[in-house]
Amino acid sequence: ASTLGAAAAQSGRYFGTAIAAGRLGDSAYTTIAGREFNMVTPENEMKIDATEPQQGRFNFSAGDQVYNWAVQHGMRVRGHTLAWYAQQPGWMQSLSGSALRQAMINHINGVMAHYKGKLAYWDVVNEAFADGGSGGRRDSNLQRTGNDWIEVAFRTARAADPDVKLCYNDYNIEDWSAAKTQGVYNMVRDFKSRGVPIDCVGFQSHFNSGDPYKSNFRTTLQSFAALGVDVAITELDVQGASATTYANITNDCLAVSRCVGMTVWGVRDSDSWRSGDTPLLFDGNGNKKAAYNSVLNALNAG
Ligand code: G3I
Repeated sequence: ASTLGAAAAQSGRYFGTAIAAGRLGDSAYTTIAGREFNMVTPENEMKIDATEPQQGRFNFSAGDQVYNWAVQHGMRVRGHTLAWYAQQPGWMQSLSGSALRQAMINHINGVMAHYKGKLAYWDVVNEAFADGGSGGRRDSNLQRTGNDWIEVAFRTARAADPDVKLCYNDYNIEDWSAAKTQGVYNMVRDFKSRGVPIDCVGFQSHFNSGDPYKSNFRTTLQSFAALGVDVAITELDVQGASATTYANITNDCLAVSRCVGMTVWGVRDSDSWRSGDTPLLFDGNGNKKAAYNSVLNALNAG
């Protein structure tokens, strides 16, 4: 196959990208994105600050822009994200306790009702674990509402849309030896044992010199999959875009039957949130980089 999406589809997987509504008027951008990918994650447009800028007043205009573009191009959509410590609107940042807990529930219900039956995946909870060696939860206003906030979010989400796959998504959980990885693993194992509805775990995979790719990523993907969840690479970028590293990551996903797909976090280097870096598969002029060819070849060989 000659595109990333078609190559991934040969093994029943998808290949996605983050899409920014503000770039949909750039034809160089939409030409590449429309050709190469078959899954879309809105980069910012379905986040809490975008969808509920004032409490109880929902705004889906930017989210729908990305959703409609994806559907018009035959792509599926991953919703991102319903409950997160960051990108909260001001009104939510100032809430705490039971008022915040109820606001989180109302937010999940409001956004999921709008997109009910339309999305393939939802990142229900994003980045709830702490960096470093503790393996514990990240402190946040949501965490301070009680340790059960994550399972409440997932139960609320299941009731709101029983057909979409519900995911936990985080970064720096790719290294199997990391305490953060083990913390998330133990949560998922606990959720599965108690029947808390969770269908998938997203490994953001923002690799850089401080947090490099390690070959035990495959063990991590296999170990989570063995708990009975799908796994996916959800926000991939690699500082410097080593072709070898991109091929290794692709092969890790291909080696795990429950690794359902990969998403890169942007189209061209100039679209990346990592300004000053060149972490993606297309350069700023829209040319395919060596990393593009290595990913495509790995997908075609797998
Ligand atoms: O839209 C406003 C614009 O109106 C304003 O003039 C401008 C001035 O700062 O800001 C614009 O918003 C920015 C937004 O991106 C859209 O460009 C925000 O400041 C900026 O903080 C925001 O950054 C996003 C970041 O999440 C925020 O947390 C990045 O685009 C986005 O790529 C990044 O994505 C996250 C994932 O959601 C979760 N995992 C990590 C990943 C990378 O940080």
